[in-house]
Amino acid sequence: MNRCKEPLTLASTLILLYALFFSGCSEAKKEKTFRIGFSQCTGSDNWRKSMLRDMQRELSFHPGTELIYRDAKDSSDLQVQQIRDLLKENIDILLVSPNEAQPLTPIVEEVFTKGIPVVVLDRKTASNLYTSFVGADNYQIGQLAATYIAHMLSGKGKIIEIVGLPGSTPAIEREKGFSDGLRQYPNLKIISEIYGNWLKDKASTQLEKNIDKLSQADVVFAHNDLMALGAQEVAQKHNLAGRIKFVGVDGLAGPGAGIEFESDKILNATVLYPTGGEEAIQTALKILNKEPFEKQNILQTLVIDSTNVRLMTLQTDKINSQQKDIERQNEMLGQQVKIYNSQRSLLDATIIALALIFILVVLAFIPGEIIKRSTFNLQHKIKRSFCKRIS
Ligand code: FRU
Repeated sequence: MNRCKEPLTLASTLILLYALFFSGCSEAKKEKTFRIGFSQCTGSDNWRKSMLRDMQRELSFHPGTELIYRDAKDSSDLQVQQIRDLLKENIDILLVSPNEAQPLTPIVEEVFTKGIPVVVLDRKTASNLYTSFVGADNYQIGQLAATYIAHMLSGKGKIIEIVGLPGSTPAIEREKGFSDGLRQYPNLKIISEIYGNWLKDKASTQLEKNIDKLSQADVVFAHNDLMALGAQEVAQKHNLAGRIKFVGVDGLAGPGAGIEFESDKILNATVLYPTGGEEAIQTALKILNKEPFEKQNILQTLVIDSTNVRLMTLQTDKINSQQKDIERQNEMLGQQVKIYNSQRSLLDATIIALALIFILVVLAFIPGEIIKRSTFNLQHKIKRSFCKRIS
């Protein structure tokens, strides 16, 4: 009887061990996956595109974690609606760059009080109800621009300031930092403030309406490089460009962006404003994985001008080429994982087939053994009853 049980026990043990081994392996390798909702105030300019690319690159190290992206196209109403839609998609965390502070505050507070963590990125709301903030210090950026312009103009001159969207916090903070920074230079005067809403075309049209002011100005400080470019083009058109200096903010690398404008002498300087895309994803994952994180993640900034633009270009080129290498390596890794997965499926199928064959062999062996034993027992019983009857 024991001999019959042995092969069966062995087969089931084998299958059990196999199942435990493989399920154990996949459990150990599996990273938790999440749904990250990202509400972007606008996705149209290079700075925002670069932010998204940085996020996606960082996410490529966390396969399975999904980024659900919504572009509010510079509309606060649309952004509120899109955040409501994101909530319906069962997001685990919300990343948000609010178009304007006030209109976005109630919905961001609502998400936060629902228990969904919120990472506020670059632009802020008007409240403290969020989990973490990632971005540079815009007040400091305004101050840096003021100090730089004061040195450039030896403490005396006329300034036109082109402000970003008035209700957005970077515009409010840059404006405040700039005017506070100028306070110690009484001979530096802001002769005109123009609202460019972060957009090149809007800045150009507004400046066209203030050409008389532009003709008196020594420097234009624009809250971003695109508006500074718009201003420079207007000045060029009116033959004023040679005399006026232009300072912007962002210092983005790559074609059609601040560092290139600086190298091409379109701008005299730009204040670096990092996108924080990578840091936002890192912070989000720390929060989701219940790891320690900082509530305020303030990114570093500096002035880029003719003295360091070459260094910055070399550095950003190097970083870009390293990032391309990482992307290539990721692609190769992805291919290797695919090959590994298909080989593993093949191995799984082979092991299952072998186990089945083994079981079938065992099953084929058992009936013979059982029949033999049953026949023997029957014969034995008949013999015993026959003997009993005779006696
Ligand atoms: C991009 C941008 C940047 C600016 C930032 C402020 O959309 O306009 O140029 O520094 O937003 O939030």
